[in-house]
Amino acid sequence: MRILFIGDVVGSPGRDMIKTYLPKLKLKYKPNAVIVNGENAAHGKGITEKIYHQLIQAGADVLTMGNHTWDKREIFDFIDDAPQIVRPANFPEGTPGKGITYIKTNGSKELAVINLQGRTFLPAIDCPFRKADELIEEASKRTPFIFIDFHAEATSEKQAIGWYTDGRVSAVVGTHTHVQTADNRILPKGTAYITDVGMTGPYDGILGVDRETIIKRFKTSLPVRFEIAEGRTTLSGVVIDIDEQSKKAVKIDRILINDDHMFFE
Ligand SMILES: [Fe+2]
Repeated sequence: MRILFIGDVVGSPGRDMIKTYLPKLKLKYKPNAVIVNGENAAHGKGITEKIYHQLIQAGADVLTMGNHTWDKREIFDFIDDAPQIVRPANFPEGTPGKGITYIKTNGSKELAVINLQGRTFLPAIDCPFRKADELIEEASKRTPFIFIDFHAEATSEKQAIGWYTDGRVSAVVGTHTHVQTADNRILPKGTAYITDVGMTGPYDGILGVDRETIIKRFKTSLPVRFEIAEGRTTLSGVVIDIDEQSKKAVKIDRILINDDHMFFE
């Protein structure tokens, strides 16, 4: 089974990259499932129903979310009816939406997709480790193929979830920090891991935001209005291969497309 995951899509530059490159990536890698983090898809904060449908139409099978899940108020009107979107599963009991979903891959095997969020330098929510235990147990009754998008700030917390779930899930990919890390690896018990997949959107901003605004904030500590950076764009992702016999991940490769990293079809 091959999974293509694309990291944090930021605003319209990110959505344009998905529109342009997702079909090409699907042709090149022929993934059985495509998962996209969409929590920054609507102008950097949250997602709208229209964008949800756009990303699904562009070729995503599931969208994962994160700390910006609720930033566009209309999400409350559609998240419970949107089968292909997961928000962090360790949001408190009673939160709208769901943190796990199951998809039939185009190889017909079932894949569980779980979204979790870290608690270090992010709002205090339920324990992602205990929630992972609970959901892995639940998912394992249906399928041995389990994917986790762990949306977190601290590299240590992301590594901890990776090691904690090694051998119990197919893959743990980190999102949220928007900078692709070079530590993609297969952990000893067969889980594919990367600390952060990186972002998809503006290439010349700071984490996707207009750089002058961010520099001004650092220099003055004054509140500023975040605007999405203009200009060149980038796409970040990973492609993960899982051996269907052993149920272990065998490969995780990074994908980076921008003016410094050319895409070859
Ligand atoms: Fe985030």
